[in-house]
Amino acid sequence: MSKDELEQIAVELKDCFACNLSKGRKNAVAGNGDGNAKIMIVGESPGKEEDEQGKPFVGDAGETLDELLAGIGIKRKDCYVTNRVKCNPLGENKPKQKELDACQKYLDKEIEIIKPSVILLVGETAAKLASPEKMENIHGKEFSYKNIPAFVVYHPSGLNNKNKDEREEDFRKFGELVKNLEIEN
Ligand code: URA
Repeated sequence: MSKDELEQIAVELKDCFACNLSKGRKNAVAGNGDGNAKIMIVGESPGKEEDEQGKPFVGDAGETLDELLAGIGIKRKDCYVTNRVKCNPLGENKPKQKELDACQKYLDKEIEIIKPSVILLVGETAAKLASPEKMENIHGKEFSYKNIPAFVVYHPSGLNNKNKDEREEDFRKFGELVKNLEIEN
């Protein structure tokens, strides 16, 4: 990978006004983490805290994500972490299809640069990249995205605590997949 290419995405994002979400943001949030990562983590969109800090998964959901990863022996710093949409949806609503479409090129570039061995799709919006089905049917299962194994887990947001046990089980299965793929991280 080239660090410059990843930096280029962050530069482009600062100047991106392709959809309405650019109007309400403090920061466009580029992906971050290890540019040579084998594991890429894709969430939905930055929340309020991420918008403030300009980094993905740094709020409560990020803390839970770190814990769930640590529970299966994966360090966040060894992964590349990003979102489908790089700006905070106004009023914390889910991003609309046209916003997802406008932002898709950045995720495509990140995947091209990182070339991950596996992608962890966290939450329904990210999971839709791999399957149109409802979360209850696809969480804890392996799909593929752009010919890369892609594993779906429930989102680590506090709102999803009703799925806490299933979410832990999803991550446990993801840990097994990482072992089976012989991914060293
Ligand atoms: N939720 C996400 O999907 N992404 C973040 O970066 C933070 C919360």
